[in-house]
Amino acid sequence: MTGRPKTVIAIYPGSFDPITNGHLDVIERGSRLFDRLIVSILGNDEKEPLFSVEERMEMLREVLARYSNVEVDHFEGLLVDYAAARGATVLLRGIRAISDYEKELQMALMNRRLRPEIETLFLMAGEAYSFISSRLVKEVIGLGGNIAGLVPPAVEARLRQRFNAAGVSGRTQSK
Ligand code: PNS
Repeated sequence: MTGRPKTVIAIYPGSFDPITNGHLDVIERGSRLFDRLIVSILGNDEKEPLFSVEERMEMLREVLARYSNVEVDHFEGLLVDYAAARGATVLLRGIRAISDYEKELQMALMNRRLRPEIETLFLMAGEAYSFISSRLVKEVIGLGGNIAGLVPPAVEARLRQRFNAAGVSGRTQSK
């Protein structure tokens, strides 16, 4: 690619199972950096998700409705191919701690090898969010702990519903 595109479109990919306040912090800051930010859920995830892609899309749409330049989507297959198809030139990722760095560096270098014209940009998680992960949030609520302030209220309500309906593991028959 030569020069700067007129409209800089970034993809913020992830599992978002579910979205946390840490993700939200990255999205809020990303929405100020790019003309358009597409928050996109990996559809063919090897990890067994708690929420279906449709449920995660619903939650993301609800929580992100106030950002006029943020769109919610999902993708299958190679992230860089999806990004190119969407006209994006940036992949946005958040880094919480040094433990995230190794995996993120590996993915960024692989993505660069596959499509050098697409840049990965990292935002450091705000210190208030650096310990939050979707996995831990699910573990804590599943064990009866308090997750207030870790996820948006609408997501907390969904998690309560899911864990109350399905018991300790949280997974329903439909998953
Ligand atoms: O929220 P996560 O689980 O850390 O997100 C990981 C994600 C979705 C960014 C990553 O698994 C991904 O990009 N998957 C798509 C498959 C792909 O492109 N793989 C090769 C390059 S690393």
